[in-house]
Amino acid sequence: MHKGLEGVVVDESRICEVDGESGDIWYAGYNVDDLVGRSSYEELLYLLWNDQLPMEDELNELEEDLSTSRELPSDVEALVDSQADAGPMDVMRTAVSALAASDDDANDISREGLVEKSTGVIAKMPTVLARQHRRREGLEPVAPREDLGHAANFLYMLHGEEPTEREARAMDDTLILYAEHGMNASTFSSVVTASTEANVYSSLTSAVGTLQGPLHGGATETVVEMLEEVGSADRAESWVEEKIDNREKIPGFGHRVYEVPDPRCRHFAAHIDELADDEARTWYDTANAVREEVEARLGEKGIYPNTDLYSGTLYRVLEVPPAFYTAVFAVSRVAGWSAHVMEQLEDNRIMRPRVKYVGEKNREYVAVDER
Ligand code: COA
Repeated sequence: MHKGLEGVVVDESRICEVDGESGDIWYAGYNVDDLVGRSSYEELLYLLWNDQLPMEDELNELEEDLSTSRELPSDVEALVDSQADAGPMDVMRTAVSALAASDDDANDISREGLVEKSTGVIAKMPTVLARQHRRREGLEPVAPREDLGHAANFLYMLHGEEPTEREARAMDDTLILYAEHGMNASTFSSVVTASTEANVYSSLTSAVGTLQGPLHGGATETVVEMLEEVGSADRAESWVEEKIDNREKIPGFGHRVYEVPDPRCRHFAAHIDELADDEARTWYDTANAVREEVEARLGEKGIYPNTDLYSGTLYRVLEVPPAFYTAVFAVSRVAGWSAHVMEQLEDNRIMRPRVKYVGEKNREYVAVDER
C-alpha cells in the first residue's frame, strides 16, 4: 500500500523532472534557472506542449492565438459578476467549467482540439480573475489588450494601468516558475479525469478544484496569514518554537519531493529584494526569520521552505490581493495541467487504482423500521 501514493510511478513523461536531491527543475530538459528572466510564459507553454522551443513564427502564432482569445463569453462574464464575493478559486473552478458551454465542439480531444481549447482556457483565466477582483472592489472590469503579453496584460486588467517592464517581468517569472511541477496533486487530478476521455474542460476543472487545498496551492494564502500573525522578524523565534512544540505544520515548509530548499525560492526572493516597498519588506524579513528558525530546528529532518513561503510577498509587491493568490497559481499551473492532459491522451489508459478493503463482510441487512 502507498498511502498518499508516495513513491508510486504512474507513467512516463517528457514534460518535467523535479530533482528533489539536487534541487533542480527541468522543463522538457531546460533548467528552470535558465528560463527565468529570459523566456516568457507563452514560450514555455509551447515548450511544454511540443517538447521543443518554438521558432519565431511558431511563437508569434501562439502569442496571437492567446491574445485574441482573452475576452470572456457573456454568460461567463455574468457568472463572474454574480459571484464576485465568492472565493476566487470557487469562481475560477466554476468559470473554467462554464467555458465548455460556449464551445460547440467541447468533446473534441484530438491533439488539435486539445491545443485549441487549452489555448482558449489559458487565455481567459487571467480575465476571470481580474474581472472578479475589480467587481469586488466596485470597479469596472478592464477589457484585455491584444498588444500586451500574457503577464503584462494580466497586471493591466487587474490594475487598469499598464505595468512597468520590471513588474511585467516579475509576473512573467512567477508564471514560469509555477507553470509545471511534475505529477503534483492537481496535475494528477487533471490526468485522472483526462484518462476517462472526458473533455479538457472537465480535466482542467478537476485540477483547479484540487489546487485549492491548503496542503497544495492554498498554502500561499496560509503563508500570508502566518506572516500577519508573526508580525515581525523578532517574533519569529518564539512563534516557530510554539508551533513545533504543538506539533503543528508550518505553512510554506516541507515538500514530498524536495530534500533541499525549493529552487524556485531564490527567484522569488530576488524579485522581492529588488521591488519591495516597506510593507512588503516587513513580510520578506519575517519570512526569512521564520525560515532561519525552521531550518535550524527541522532542517535535519528535511523540512525546508517551499516556494509558497515567498510567492505571496511577491504578489503583494505586484498588488495582487491576498484572496487571489491561489487563483494566480492556477492561472500559471494550467500550462502544466494542459500539457499532461495532452501527453496522457497520446497513449491513454484509464487510471484505476485499488484500495485495500478493511471493513466487515457478510453483514445482514435489516430494514430501517426494524433496526
Ligand atoms: N512544518 C513542520 N513539520 C512538517 C512540515 C511543516 N510544514 N511539513 C512536514 N512536516 C513533518 C511532518 O510533521 C512529519 O513529521 P513526523 O514524521 O515526525 O510525523 C514529516 O515532516 C513528514 O510530513 P508529511 O506530512 O508526512 O509529508 P507529506 O509529504 O505527506 O506532505 C506537505 C507534504 C507539503 C503537504 C507538507 O509538508 C505540508 O503540509 N506543508 C505545509 C503546507 C505547504 O506549505 N504546502 C505547499 C506545498 S508546495
